[in-house]
Amino acid sequence: MYKSVVKPLLFHLDAERAHHLVFDNLRRAARLPGAGALLRGLYDYQHPGLERTVFGLKFPNPVGLAAGFDKNAVLTDELALMGFGFVEIGTVTPRPQPGNPAPRLFRLPQDEALLNRMGFNNDGAAAAARRLARRQNRRLVIGGNIGKNKDTPNAHAAADYVAGFEALAEVVDYFVVNVSSPNTPGLRELQEKKPLIDLLQQVQARNLARPVPRPLLLKIAPDLTDAQLDDILEIAQETQLSGLVATNTTVARAGLRTDAGHVAALGAGGLSGRPLRARATEVIRYLHRKSGGGLPIIGAGGIHSPDDALEKLAAGAALVQLYTGFIYEGPGLVKQINRAVLKGGKA
Ligand SMILES: Cc1cc2nc3c(=O)[nH]c(=O)nc-3n(C[C@H](O)[C@H](O)[C@H](O)COP(=O)(O)O)c2cc1C
Repeated sequence: MYKSVVKPLLFHLDAERAHHLVFDNLRRAARLPGAGALLRGLYDYQHPGLERTVFGLKFPNPVGLAAGFDKNAVLTDELALMGFGFVEIGTVTPRPQPGNPAPRLFRLPQDEALLNRMGFNNDGAAAAARRLARRQNRRLVIGGNIGKNKDTPNAHAAADYVAGFEALAEVVDYFVVNVSSPNTPGLRELQEKKPLIDLLQQVQARNLARPVPRPLLLKIAPDLTDAQLDDILEIAQETQLSGLVATNTTVARAGLRTDAGHVAALGAGGLSGRPLRARATEVIRYLHRKSGGGLPIIGAGGIHSPDDALEKLAAGAALVQLYTGFIYEGPGLVKQINRAVLKGGKA
């Protein structure tokens, strides 16, 4: 139904418009009498064998929605009905910001990929916190992905992350520090050893001073070298991180089926979806091996099928997330993955 009817209609529209249309309609539809039960019946899949305890949190299943889809935490209850075990909201910044000018989201259908340069468009951390305080479904685990405002210089970036942390600390279950988006100028420089340690230490100091600290994770780019990944593992240990999210979108453009001229004309941005799959898995495998399995990894990047998810889990991911696969394959994918995990994966 999704691939034969809904997707062709949506793919006729501009990609960002289609995103908003799905959002608004899902929200409206879920309010109709009986709709919750219908969605749950279609897409949700609960089984004790799917439950996971990772960094001290109990996940109803290991399949999550990656950051960037529900940036402002408006749809978490509806997404819970669609079978996700967890949703990572954000990236949120302390102050609201519009993001980059449109068009800023493009489909590459031949590659089953997306290219985006959204640039952290969001309503601000306080607005997300207000919405999360009102949510109904308490089984769904919520991650809070935090970033810095575009006009905050890197020298003051840590204060933005601390502000995002403080705003969300009561309403999310775990945190992700995002320094790996390619769409905020200079952001990825914060992945360098010294600024990253400084930033994480400042957030962690606030966190560890709380009565119940939240698991703090770092989201990394797939474009890091092995030496940089080694640094990340060292930093994770030094700043007592609970885990890593691997990976964000890539700035690489190699091996695409889409005409290179067309891709170049689309301009800058992060590429997600199928072309990212192999590299993201490689990064997960490397981090898992090098850390001796000691650091939980949320694996993301190009999961479009149950086998893709099992590949990430076999490489060492404790949990998986998807975004682009959800757009190309539809909501049924979440249930399919959970079924496969239960049957043949690390259930
Ligand atoms: C349109 C779009 C917006 C995104 N926005 C964010 C974001 O705000 N913060 C973030 O950490 N990752 C963001 N991502 C990256 C995803 O969370 C994910 O790491 C990446 O897309 C790889 O997974 P996928 O291949 O399943 O899409 C975004 C991805 C897309 C496609």
